[in-house]
Amino acid sequence: MIAKPLKTSLNVIFYGDTIMTKLSLQLIRLRRAIGVWLTDIIIRNRHFINRRVFYREALSLYNYMFSPHQLAYLCNVLDRVGQVEGCFVEVGCAYGSTTAYLNMHLKHQGRTVDYIALDTFQGFVSNHADYEVSVRGKSSSLHHFFSINKKKWVQAGLDDCGFTKIRLEQTDCTTFDFDHLKPIAFALVDVDLYLPIRDILPKLYRNMAPGGIIVVDDCQPDTLWDGANQAYREFVEAHGLPVTIAADKLGIIIV
Ligand SMILES: C[S@@+](CC[C@H](N)C(=O)[O-])C[C@H]1O[C@@H](n2cnc3c(N)ncnc32)[C@H](O)[C@@H]1O
Repeated sequence: MIAKPLKTSLNVIFYGDTIMTKLSLQLIRLRRAIGVWLTDIIIRNRHFINRRVFYREALSLYNYMFSPHQLAYLCNVLDRVGQVEGCFVEVGCAYGSTTAYLNMHLKHQGRTVDYIALDTFQGFVSNHADYEVSVRGKSSSLHHFFSINKKKWVQAGLDDCGFTKIRLEQTDCTTFDFDHLKPIAFALVDVDLYLPIRDILPKLYRNMAPGGIIVVDDCQPDTLWDGANQAYREFVEAHGLPVTIAADKLGIIIV
């Protein structure tokens, strides 16, 4: 009779730190959910509160922007570059879900790889988004996507998973010096828009290790994010490389 409350209080003492960490991660998630919820109202110019968006952000058990078969494909790419010397780069890591997923895959295989994840952590760069709207005819709502984020929120989530080889960089990827990362074994390009992808593909390509692989997300026509498709196709065609689309929308470049 006595053992149970004693055990419970010892658990609270010994696992107090863990409880606090989980609690602060929940608070971070709640704060983000409120931000995304309010942004959704502004974007859609609604005069009522969209509770569905709030619950999705706060409670969803599936926070990935890739489907299971796309995540499986990405894990296969990581396996394929297993013998290639070089770091891994994710350009556009947003809230860090895929970063955590891929690094958990590496951790379970006992692999330690330097993983550099870049993002503005403030959404799209204005002139890149303006170009989509004025030149590519996209909705001006894209200005608001991913703007509710903070590097320290993502860092807290990654720390909670115990990752030590991930470096987060808050930057506009078009101003980032990719030459310093050479050699790169794997690059996931996930910044959605035409201008930044057109800018960084040559910078990544020249720094890839032989056998390295670049994956460009959103290579699908007729979507809000088809600037990625245009930039990918222009790049591979200009370099005489094959157009390879895997798992519905992943543009592949094998070096
Ligand atoms: C689709 S999200 C990335 C999703 C993430 N890879 C995942 O799978 O969870 C696109 C991200 O690109 C970032 N982004 C857009 N333009 C950028 C730029 N020029 N430099 C750095 N990050 C950028 C946005 O802030 C946003 O977080």
